[in-house]
Amino acid sequence: MSLPSELCCPACRGPLAVEGVGAACRACDLRYPGDRGYLDFLPDLGAAGEGLGPRLMHSRALARVYERLWRPFFVTVASNGLPDYRAEFEAVLAALASAEGGAVVDLSCGPGFTGRKLAESGRFARVFGVDWSLAMLARAAADNRGLMRPVRGDVGRLPFKTASIAGVHAGAAFHVWPDPPAAVAEVARVVRPGGAFVASTFAHTSGLRRRFETVVSRVGQFHVFEVDQLRGMLSAHGLVDFDCERRGSLILFWARRAGAPAA
Ligand SMILES: C[S@@+](CC[C@H](N)C(=O)[O-])C[C@H]1O[C@@H](n2cnc3c(N)ncnc32)[C@H](O)[C@@H]1O
Ligand SMILES: [Zn+2]
Repeated sequence: MSLPSELCCPACRGPLAVEGVGAACRACDLRYPGDRGYLDFLPDLGAAGEGLGPRLMHSRALARVYERLWRPFFVTVASNGLPDYRAEFEAVLAALASAEGGAVVDLSCGPGFTGRKLAESGRFARVFGVDWSLAMLARAAADNRGLMRPVRGDVGRLPFKTASIAGVHAGAAFHVWPDPPAAVAEVARVVRPGGAFVASTFAHTSGLRRRFETVVSRVGQFHVFEVDQLRGMLSAHGLVDFDCERRGSLILFWARRAGAPAA
């Protein structure tokens, strides 16, 4: 087995060695098993995250119904219209145009449907699917058909070398991340200059709908953002040229890693 060149030890960012079907960092004396169909960079972590919404992401029952029921339900309620995953995926692909030919990451991939479609598109050298939920990754690995490379990791400490990734997609995940600014800093670290970042989450609207968003996010214990807050978070870490599309309380937004791509 060989390891993709983009991977590194998330603890020290040093090189990894192959160890059986997994990997190891000699400097940290840490082992990262690979016997469940994905490399596990969090072998000692259980169900992490605080609040109802974030913790539900570790449920096996939810992972089973996530793609078919859970996600379409929330998209319907939040967008006030029917879900259109095909249009969403096309917009994600368009936002990742500058990453074609390079390695991309489907960050917080859940059961992995977008990562698999990105791999199937044939536009990228490699597609990693990263999540920290054992339940979600079990599904991602079971359904993978050798398409993407599922990896268990924390968005706050990614197992990728600095500037090694051409593009990152984070679908419906910002609102359950424990520390979104720290996650954005990690994304900005791993994306190469000129690379792409595209994400979707909940963002506040106005009037009665805004009140509804506030109540639901308090009950579910997840974030709803202001658009300026997202723009500021990205630009603070060198993710520039922010643009977005809105559908009710949903936002799809994208940006470019400042700097010129290496020649
Ligand atoms: C609502 S699901 C999104 C799944 C999929 N990307 C989509 O577009 O529907 C959010 C995912 O974020 C993951 N997640 C939350 N916090 C994370 C963290 N700190 N590191 C990695 N993944 C995280 C959860 O485990 C869950 O699978
Ligand atoms: Zn290490």
